[in-house]
Amino acid sequence: MSDFVIHGGRPLFGTVAVGGSKNAVLPIIFAAATVKGVSVIENVPDISDVETAVFLLEELGALIDRSGTTLTVDASELSYRPPTPSAALAIRASTYLIGAELARFGKTEISSFGGCNFEPRPIDLHLYAARCMGAFADGSLFRMSKPKSSAVFFKKVSVGATANALILASSLPVLTEIYGYAREPHIKTLAEFLSSAGAKIEFSREKITVEGRELTSAHAVIPPDPIETGTFALLSLASGGNITVKGTPSGELTPLLAPLMDAGAEIAEEGGGFRLFGELRSPCSFFAEPYPGLATDLQPLTVPVLARFLGGEVRDSVFPRRFGYASELGRFGVLSENIPSGVRVLPSKFSRARAEAVDLRGGAALLFPALISEGESVISSAHLIKRGYSDLVKKLSAVGADIIEK
Ligand code: UD1
Repeated sequence: MSDFVIHGGRPLFGTVAVGGSKNAVLPIIFAAATVKGVSVIENVPDISDVETAVFLLEELGALIDRSGTTLTVDASELSYRPPTPSAALAIRASTYLIGAELARFGKTEISSFGGCNFEPRPIDLHLYAARCMGAFADGSLFRMSKPKSSAVFFKKVSVGATANALILASSLPVLTEIYGYAREPHIKTLAEFLSSAGAKIEFSREKITVEGRELTSAHAVIPPDPIETGTFALLSLASGGNITVKGTPSGELTPLLAPLMDAGAEIAEEGGGFRLFGELRSPCSFFAEPYPGLATDLQPLTVPVLARFLGGEVRDSVFPRRFGYASELGRFGVLSENIPSGVRVLPSKFSRARAEAVDLRGGAALLFPALISEGESVISSAHLIKRGYSDLVKKLSAVGADIIEK
């Protein structure tokens, strides 16, 4: 457990280079357990969720080497064992053990999975997909019967369940069709990784078709993290408009940027990235939805920005109760009130405070008023923020922030 101690009110300016995408790299690391050989994964971010994923794979016997931002996973010789509970509980991505272990060992233990607990996060869709492909419950284990061609019809769009279905289907020597799939770009990145290992995967408007086989060696290059890109772009806007962000291209962040530009923000493309600046001259609203809508992971970061200007509304259809962070923002003077599936944000004057990160993105939202307010602020449970931001203290210091971790 550590704290971020911030002396705010300093001008922020310069360039931030964003790391690889958290939500892209995590399923790929677990998918590497299904490859009976070596997987090379490039542009891997230095975040604690990656460390935990690596630990969980090493427990199964994977030999993993990290050199700079490249991870090499040799999963030639693995043997099944249940995960260490504290590690499985630390990250939501441990759910990918379901697909990966069923593919590799024909069995998996349905343990407790972790991650941000902003609301109950069921795994019924993950298990439904596995059942469709031939898995059955056996006490606390799930086991695979003889694989048969199958169709998975998701009744609700789930990123995690789609990734798990792809991971399992890619190792089964049959045809699997996945309907109602999640369309996030990192699902395509995972599919490219599994294709590089030998699976045949085709996307059409209504389904993903997978013809699996024994996977041998694989390769992936992780794209920049859109949530980290969005975070620094929003921080630029909130702090005076002088941070250039080199990461996800601005066009891929349209659901975030369009409402801001409509309200008066401007974008300058420069230095291989973009800079978000200007003032919001009218209230602005956001609604998080499944892709291609605004990512639910970005909605907490919009709240302090709206509070700095003329307010607005932020709602979330993916995780309608993901607003526990708002009361912690309130300690800094960020005014908001609950509305159905969201919060109404009021124009606010920030002041320094002590607050606690209650989850990863909600915790990152606390950095905004802490960096903008004069004086010392302390954000506790900083480890939760470090789950998803690589070299955060270094990057913020490089753009002029006075922040230390202790
Ligand atoms: C992933 C991301 C997380 C992000 C979220 C939404 C990872 C490791 N995590 O989480 O950072 O916030 O996508 O973009 O990539 N649901 C069910 N049953 C299930 C699974 C999900 O009802 O079995 C529901 C959830 O409660 C939620 C919705 O489906 O309402 C979407 O969840 P999902 O897309 O699965 O998010 P995660 O994969 O958990």
